[in-house]
Amino acid sequence: MLRFRHGFGTLRHSVHSFRRSLSTNKRLNNLTSVAPMVDISTPNFLELLHIISGDRHDYYTEMHHPHAIHQHQDHLDRFIGTPRPNVIVQLGGSDPNLLSSAAKLLQDYGYSEININVGCPSPSVQQGQFGAILMKTPSLVADILNAMEGKVSIPVTIKCRIGVDHLDTSEFFHHFVETLMTCERPPPHLIVHARKCILKGLSPKKNRTIPPLNYQRVYELASLYPDLPISINGGFTTTETIRDALGQVDGCMIGRKVMDSPLFLQEIDRDIYGIPENEIKSPLTVIDEYLGKQVRKEKKKGTQKK
Ligand SMILES: Cc1cc2nc3c(=O)[nH]c(=O)nc-3n(C[C@H](O)[C@H](O)[C@H](O)COP(=O)(O)O)c2cc1C
Repeated sequence: MLRFRHGFGTLRHSVHSFRRSLSTNKRLNNLTSVAPMVDISTPNFLELLHIISGDRHDYYTEMHHPHAIHQHQDHLDRFIGTPRPNVIVQLGGSDPNLLSSAAKLLQDYGYSEININVGCPSPSVQQGQFGAILMKTPSLVADILNAMEGKVSIPVTIKCRIGVDHLDTSEFFHHFVETLMTCERPPPHLIVHARKCILKGLSPKKNRTIPPLNYQRVYELASLYPDLPISINGGFTTTETIRDALGQVDGCMIGRKVMDSPLFLQEIDRDIYGIPENEIKSPLTVIDEYLGKQVRKEKKKGTQKK
């Protein structure tokens, strides 16, 4: 049995009732998303995901620094990926003005949503005073959100962890979220990687495995903020666990499972969204379409050079 947060009571765990609940319970355009992953979520990877599952999931881009957005402003589609309603551009930075002017360029180019990285522990990112270290200064994250007001009308969301270093209590996490929710422009969606991050002594890779997952912390937050759409992230590798999570929060973000096996999206399409088998592409069709697109792209480049 599943229990939904938004007044649906207890529902039988059948595909039929689950789909019914999905269609009426939607506060996010898509309930599932593919996580931002540097060096993975490239334009070509996003294109592959689009071929596999179209607009059924949200696809986050790699994290980009606002300077890079300025630098590549004439060809952002090639640099970031095709602007689509379900493509969300992740920015990493800490300067509110720089971030909001990059956001404006992205909006003008046709991108429909932006996400700010408040969860990355990499040493270079820490040196730039952004990523997970921003969790230590929630007022700066609020300043970043506030700086978007008047600059962009598209949603600007936050991806964070449940804590950082010794700041790992529920109280700390709630204070962090409360600071964002009481700023002038609160995030319309919060994505939480359900483990804390350790800034010194653990590599980014180890920071994705060693600090233990604490889904309960995220579920607790969801009950404290019933009006805030929340997605949970971290360690989801089966459609059963995704389905369970969607009974507690609005969305579920999946990273490494899709990185290792992009066709996992089709399992979600089948099991969570009940997409019939005849609408699921065969691996051969996916490869064919992907290669076809690559060939057309190369030909276009060739023509442009002549
Ligand atoms: C190769 C790789 C690169 C990543 N790069 C980013 C990034 O640019 N921005 C970000 O917020 N998280 C990044 N992450 C973290 C993921 O978005 C996600 O939070 C993490 O992998 C946990 O989800 P998972 O267990 O489903 O993989 C990256 C993860 C991987 C594996």
